[in-house]
Amino acid sequence: MSSSACLAVVLAAGEGTRMRSALPKVMHPVAGLPMLDHVLSTARAAGADRLSVVIGAGADLVRAHLARTAPDAEIHVQAERLGTAHAVLAARDALLKPADHVLVLYGDTPLVRPETVRALRERLDDGADLVVLGFEAADPTGYGRLVTEGERLVRIVEEKDADAPTRAIRLANSGIMGIRGRHLPDLLEAIGNANAKGEYYLTDAVEVAVGRGLATAVVTGPEADFVGINDRAQLAAVEALFQARARAAALAGGATLVAPETVFFSHDTRLGRDVTVEPNVVFGPGVAVRDGAQIRAFSHLEGATVEAGAIIGPYARLRPGAAIGPEAHIGNFVEVKNAVVGPGAKINHLSYVGDASVGAKSNIGAGTITCNYDGVFKHTTTIGSGVFVGSHTTLVAPVTLGDGAFTAAGSVITDDVPADAMAFGRARQAVKDGAGKAKRDALLARKAGR
Ligand code: UD1
Ligand code: MG
Repeated sequence: MSSSACLAVVLAAGEGTRMRSALPKVMHPVAGLPMLDHVLSTARAAGADRLSVVIGAGADLVRAHLARTAPDAEIHVQAERLGTAHAVLAARDALLKPADHVLVLYGDTPLVRPETVRALRERLDDGADLVVLGFEAADPTGYGRLVTEGERLVRIVEEKDADAPTRAIRLANSGIMGIRGRHLPDLLEAIGNANAKGEYYLTDAVEVAVGRGLATAVVTGPEADFVGINDRAQLAAVEALFQARARAAALAGGATLVAPETVFFSHDTRLGRDVTVEPNVVFGPGVAVRDGAQIRAFSHLEGATVEAGAIIGPYARLRPGAAIGPEAHIGNFVEVKNAVVGPGAKINHLSYVGDASVGAKSNIGAGTITCNYDGVFKHTTTIGSGVFVGSHTTLVAPVTLGDGAFTAAGSVITDDVPADAMAFGRARQAVKDGAGKAKRDALLARKAGR
């Protein structure tokens, strides 16, 4: 990888009006992560050691988000939206500190791969002064066209400013540009706004650079990596492209996906080898599944770890903090939240286990509920190892069941149960001989008398 100092400037001051949303465009998630974060992580992975984000006036949500997720990023405000070159100039303070490479990325283009940006940086290392990432567009409508002479990029012409022969060019501008840092201030200074939109176009930096005798170049990549998001349809298209990539990566990594097109991944899903994922499974953020585990059909996992050989589902829900031990089984219509389930433990049917720990090899009967919430506070249920919780047990937390304890089916357990003890928390059954028949006869007599 290039060892040159690198500043990435991410333009995120888009109004996003075509999203028709209360949420700023760059905050819309792709695979569970705001598109802006995808771009920032690509910039980091491509070796950027400083990040600058240009946001619009009043984009407090973006600012607060960055403070949490990228506290090292410098934030600049572009008060008026006067074009992409004007947006880069909003990061003037960051440009004053010297960087060998300055990358400009767009916050609404989240599928760009780090390796493509690295290839761009290699061209800068090899002597180019300005490099643009481009792609052969199936339909280039709306994109800037890259006008080349042999290897050399001569200029970029925006759709609105292009004549018919230029519009016929299919080599499109992705918007991503790398510039040798020392040339940038001078290039930006020289850009005017004499164009159809009256904006300061960053793309004009190419023509200025050529006029100064600087070396320009194009690095190309596949179109799918450069799809920009301006509306919800494009957001859905980018999500689909991301999912296709994630499925391919899971298969390449040694997981079996029975019906890949029905499995939905998060940006950070990790699957071990020989994991099997059945149809219609959804992974929310923060899930890791270790080797040989099975995720059966129609399960939903989020913020959970599943250890080797465990079986989840069908129809299971793992919520944040679920840590399922090796060889454990979580069955149908079981919800687990913030709970550690020990090795070989089984929660097979119709249960809610929240704010709890379940020891190794314990068996939780059908319909068991941990009553973890009193309306104000959350309380913990601690279940030892080798415990047998009878069907339809209600565990009123805080409560502890010692190792090897039993609870009788249908019990409401409000007090701790010592190790190896058996707890009954239900009314004793009464049986009255003949009372059933007597009741029925009385009812039938009443019906006949009507
Ligand atoms: C831009 C390129 C075009 C390229 C296309 C790729 C220019 C002039 N044109 O066109 O060649 O093919 O992207 O998708 O650069 N932004 C600001 N402040 C501004 C203007 C824009 O921050 O004043 C940000 C936007 O939020 C967006 C990015 O810059 O993230 C691109 O702006 P946009 O208006 O979408 O440019 P395009 O017309 O798509
Ligand atoms: Mg755009």
